[in-house]
Amino acid sequence: MKVLVATEKPFAKVAIDGIKNVIDQAGYELVLLEKYTDKAQLLEAVADANAIIIRSDIVDAEVLAAAKELKIVVRAGAGYDNVDLQAATAAGVCVMNTPGQNANAVAELALGMMVYGVRNLYNGTSGTELMGKKLGIHAYGNVGRNVARIAKGFGMDIYAFDAYCPKEVIEKDGVTAVDSVEELYSTCNVVSLHIPATAETKNSINYDLLNKMPKGAMLVNTARKEVINEAEVIKLMEDRTDFRYMTDIMPATHAEFAEKFAGRYFSTPKKMGAQTAEANINAGIAAANQIVGFLRDGINKFQVNK
Ligand code: 3PG
Repeated sequence: MKVLVATEKPFAKVAIDGIKNVIDQAGYELVLLEKYTDKAQLLEAVADANAIIIRSDIVDAEVLAAAKELKIVVRAGAGYDNVDLQAATAAGVCVMNTPGQNANAVAELALGMMVYGVRNLYNGTSGTELMGKKLGIHAYGNVGRNVARIAKGFGMDIYAFDAYCPKEVIEKDGVTAVDSVEELYSTCNVVSLHIPATAETKNSINYDLLNKMPKGAMLVNTARKEVINEAEVIKLMEDRTDFRYMTDIMPATHAEFAEKFAGRYFSTPKKMGAQTAEANINAGIAAANQIVGFLRDGINKFQVNK
């Protein structure tokens, strides 16, 4: 069996060593395609792969059609909006993610970006503190829960909204569960986004919603750029000079944001929430184990295209 690791943004070397160990022990062969720059390289590499480990790499119908021997794709991470699930199902390919494995890394970055934002991007001027401020966690999944845990240490007052998570689960963590997205935004000084990119959420973070936030508000995005209505966020930040936007997913209109909102806008050059040795090891090795479990024993626990 041939297992391909296809990562435009590579894992840390220790994670590759761990993945290799799992694949070797199963008697399979590991092939690496890292830092590729062209889709043609991916199309060529998948031709004889039985299993593929990816990160945010795009696996669309064309990639699936080129992967004639493919049985399983594991997205080493949480969001699988980069995989064409319908095409995979039609091709008889199992798609999995590795939920929770990189959640702490993303949550730590979210808090780091909050501190960076309220301290005026470390420019030497007087900022504000997170303690006592109201934090809104938009979607209470694995990352949201970790954000709540860490934010408690900062002494923040924590609120969350999640249409799919029972209120009792949220409140058990000492977090106030609010009834609507609107209530979350109108209540909180800082909102941290943890929603997936779906047909329902795309462009949903818009002018009207963000304009409900109190004066001096800040939005932190370690989720997906697609959930942001960029044109409306630009308009909002023009109208509200108190509003700050910190993002780990560079907007399509980054140049415009950077030029217009210097000092209250920041984007990482490349998504780095999950870019830690620990997260790479956790998610990479989980992906390798899930592949072996599926190919050898038919275990499909984390399949997302059932
Ligand atoms: C995820 O969905 O797991 C995160 O967005 C991390 O993505 P990455 O593996 O491309 O860094």
